[in-house]
Amino acid sequence: MRVVFLGAPGVGKGTQAERISAQYRVAKISTGDLLREAVRMKTPLGIEAKSYMDQGKLVPDAVVIGLVRAKLADPSCAAGFVLDGFPRTVPQAEELGTALASKAMALDGVVNFQVPREAVVQRLSGRRSCPKCQATFHVNFAKPKVDGICDRCGESLVQRSDDEREAIETRLKVYDEQTAPLVRYYDERQLLSSLDASGTVDVVFQHLSQVLAPYQMR
Ligand code: AP5
Repeated sequence: MRVVFLGAPGVGKGTQAERISAQYRVAKISTGDLLREAVRMKTPLGIEAKSYMDQGKLVPDAVVIGLVRAKLADPSCAAGFVLDGFPRTVPQAEELGTALASKAMALDGVVNFQVPREAVVQRLSGRRSCPKCQATFHVNFAKPKVDGICDRCGESLVQRSDDEREAIETRLKVYDEQTAPLVRYYDERQLLSSLDASGTVDVVFQHLSQVLAPYQMR
């Protein structure tokens, strides 16, 4: 299974990518997680990426493409992968196609997660994240067992700096301008499926599993 999860910030791509990765034993490649880890480790790439991320802007294509190329070469991706948050621009999509073709591979499909804007803002503003293991929670929809503490590793949860209202607005605008054109890009290549991602996490997972079922049989 080689799939891309596409959709605006906060539609639930990361939440579902985590579950699909565990269920189908495929790698989850989240460029947001990779970049946040680089920021946390204060690597040169992380230092460069931080100012873009805090403002809700996209990190330059060359930086992100390098990260994804390295990850795709990892043996953990041999059985398949879910790309979460990449590609986000047409040049990134073209680079992905080239990188896969060089390994005689291709994408099976692209799932476009769709959620009304008001719900997206509600999901993002209530999100709490683990800075250590990147697990994600929500103050209303996905509460941790102990308030403010990560279920998985026990670290204190934080609000991501780009989940402040101003950065959310910028991210949604950036999505409309730079990432939404990928819907047409992949539709023209007959790779696109739409997913109503407005239900609960479990309901969305069920629908998503149906969308992905044909890729399991290849
Ligand atoms: P990234 O981390 O990829 O952020 P994003 O795309 O904005 O996506 P989010 O993580 O905000 O949302 P999501 O759809 O994964 O939702 P989630 O499952 O967490 O990128 C961050 C930044 O890194 C970018 O702004 C950019 O600067 C940079 N970057 C990353 N990739 C890049 C690229 N390719 N090119 C350039 N720059 C790049 O869910 C959100 C919340 O809702 C959670 O609290 C969750 O618990 C809750 N939730 C999930 N599903 C449901 C549900 N069904 N019902 C109710 N609540 C739900």
